[in-house]
Amino acid sequence: MYDRFVPELAERLAAAGFLSAREEAEQLQRAAGGDERLLASLAGRRLAGEPLAWIVGGAELCGRWVRVEAGVYVPRPHTEALALRAAERLPAGGIAVDVCTGSGAVAAVVADRRPGATVLATDVDERAVACARANGIDARAGDLFGPLPAALRGRVDVVTAVVPYVPTRELRSLQRDTFAFESARAYDGGPDGTAVLRRALAGAAAVLRAGGAALLELGGDQAGLLEPELDRLGFAAASVLSDSDGDVRGIEATLARRGVG
Ligand SMILES: C[S@@+](CC[C@H](N)C(=O)[O-])C[C@H]1O[C@@H](n2cnc3c(N)ncnc32)[C@H](O)[C@@H]1O
Repeated sequence: MYDRFVPELAERLAAAGFLSAREEAEQLQRAAGGDERLLASLAGRRLAGEPLAWIVGGAELCGRWVRVEAGVYVPRPHTEALALRAAERLPAGGIAVDVCTGSGAVAAVVADRRPGATVLATDVDERAVACARANGIDARAGDLFGPLPAALRGRVDVVTAVVPYVPTRELRSLQRDTFAFESARAYDGGPDGTAVLRRALAGAAAVLRAGGAALLELGGDQAGLLEPELDRLGFAAASVLSDSDGDVRGIEATLARRGVG
């Protein structure tokens, strides 16, 4: 009976519009650990639109299992390239800072790939900070770079920032269930989506050493909107990170000169 439940559940999920229905059914089955009633309850939660990661307890980023507590932003596959690139830019024994860390997923991927490095993270949401700590990250609560020790100024090699960057007017076009469960604080980037991005760039310019890199997730025309800011803050020409569909997913900017941020 339990085994039969999975194909049936996969069909129900597919009919409800879930794209990876089979895989999701299998994850729910594993999470239920053979308990048929529990599986039915987990399936009900998923069909009601609750994020899968909250139901099964986590998600993978770059093949790394990350615990994701209820209420915490679920790491997305389109962030993987940024996390991997950040690890590449981080020297052995270097220092990385991940602001807006959420579950700590990006920080965890970077830390796994650079075991000798120091990786610090921040998030304004206490639930996210607790979750990131449970994932082994030295995470601190507060606004962007605010909770970091002053002694880091000018010494950081890599800053990663998956900040809220959705323009406010576009929030309503996000997936139907997003705000039934998730907080707008993880998404809302102000009128053109760059309000937090701009503050993150200024903060990055203040903590990075010359030659250090800021990797920011963004979308649409935001890379262009940030160009004057990048220039003013002393970043060299930024390269755009695109996904396999050619969509802009982020920027990687190297600090050429210190002193403005
Ligand atoms: C889009 S999520 C990204 C989470 C994580 N980096 C990831 O990729 O899975 C944005 C996160 O930024 C946090 N946040 C929003 N505003 C912030 C601020 N001013 N300072 C620090 N964190 C902030 C939210 O609580 C949320 O966890």
